[in-house]
Amino acid sequence: MAARIIPVAVFDAVVFGATGDLTLRKLLPALYWRFRDGQMPEGARVVGVARSPLDDAGFRARAADALRAHVPAAELDPAVMDRFLLCLSYVALDAARRENADAAQPDGGWQALTARLDPARVRVFYLATAPDLYGPICRAIAAAGLVSPLARVVLEKPIGHDLASAREINDAVGRVFAEAQIYRIDHYLGKETVQNLLALRFANGIFERLWNADVIDHVQITVAETVGLEGRGAYYDRAGALRDMVQNHLLQLLCLIAMEPPVALDADRVRDEKLKVLRALRPMTEADLAALTVRGQYAAGAIDGRAVPAYAADLGGARASRTETFVALKAEVRSWRWAGVPFYLRTGKRLERKVSEIVVQFRAPPFALFPDVGATVEANRLVIRLQPEEGIRLSVMTKEPGPGGLRLCPTALDISFEQAFGLRYPDAYERLLMDTVRGNPTLFMRRDEVEAAWTWVEPILDAWSARDDAPRPYAAGSWGPTAAIALIERDGRTWHEGG
Ligand code: BG6
Repeated sequence: MAARIIPVAVFDAVVFGATGDLTLRKLLPALYWRFRDGQMPEGARVVGVARSPLDDAGFRARAADALRAHVPAAELDPAVMDRFLLCLSYVALDAARRENADAAQPDGGWQALTARLDPARVRVFYLATAPDLYGPICRAIAAAGLVSPLARVVLEKPIGHDLASAREINDAVGRVFAEAQIYRIDHYLGKETVQNLLALRFANGIFERLWNADVIDHVQITVAETVGLEGRGAYYDRAGALRDMVQNHLLQLLCLIAMEPPVALDADRVRDEKLKVLRALRPMTEADLAALTVRGQYAAGAIDGRAVPAYAADLGGARASRTETFVALKAEVRSWRWAGVPFYLRTGKRLERKVSEIVVQFRAPPFALFPDVGATVEANRLVIRLQPEEGIRLSVMTKEPGPGGLRLCPTALDISFEQAFGLRYPDAYERLLMDTVRGNPTLFMRRDEVEAAWTWVEPILDAWSARDDAPRPYAAGSWGPTAAIALIERDGRTWHEGG
């Protein structure tokens, strides 16, 4: 099936942090794909900005290396790549320093940047830098007079380290850009399968009627990774899994599963409903912590038959760390729809398998009509596989074929998206970058959402640090600490074995 491509308007994008990992690994490949598919117009300009003293040719050479490393060779058409590289240019400047500079002092870098931008075009400032630079960079953009009516700014997660720092960043950026111009990325929202949650829930009459505590027993959200630190130790060790994954990606998934149908699909109506879910999360008290949360850290182990070192060794081994690389939580959404339905969340690095999935476990039938035949009736389960092997699988009880007694067995109604659509799944960044150009903020986080998520997460962080106990070790290549299994089994439930 061919994808329908609607080209976006000609735009100027300025990427701060242009020589960093995110730009090279994600943003440039995403722009290349959109260019190759005819969505990014040839006249569009992408100006890379960083401190390294590079010229246009030097930046294009780095970009070409990045594309060779991150786009499969069969998809990298040299002629298309050459045309794409011509859209790129580079300006060397210390983005955050301007605010301290003498205003009378001419600033070569900012002048060069200004000269490359067309005031009549959509202008996207992408801040692929550390979050503590967001405020200073925005002030410098304003001081250089670059905030045009069609300007927007894109902020990478994490927005802050806690509620206070998130507010500080939001205030600083908000003094320069209006909220409607601020695009806070949570790349999970750009994944096709995550967007599909909206279609599944609201374009199908059958689910919505069953989507409540009368019919649903519990929900599981698992985001398991096999990777470790990937060279991001300095950031990760300060963050940990709760800040890195739960505060944003897992809570956003929970919102999409738990939210009420929005009255329209426009950005604010969808985000209003997600916000209500975040605000309905039962705050965790210190007393809850032992029963409702588990934090772990990977020890040495093996993944796919390959030995992998412990977290401390991945960090360089110089010191012990108490940062968690695994979290499991039991959350509760206090609403009529979800009263008494637990949401079990877990995420971790160096787990057995890479899998992100949501399991909606329905209640068992209320009456045992098949009392003593060859199988117990298993309650229906909907598994939404976000990655890899994207798809949806609903388990239903069926009669086992053949003569004799009426024996039952679970069978799956199974949709594999690859088989159904046979398309390459675009990377989340492709969609999100084009949405910033189109001016569609639906898949981005609004300020109040980010702050509501921190409000829920912060007491957990505070209580963990007050207890000052070490995270529980788990072997790399396992499914996390045994305490995470106990967390759900205490309730007579079990983690879905696919995850
Ligand atoms: C990022 C986290 O936001 O998401 C990383 O900072 C994590 O630690 C990544 O590895 C996972 O994203 P994906 O798209 O590979 O599931």
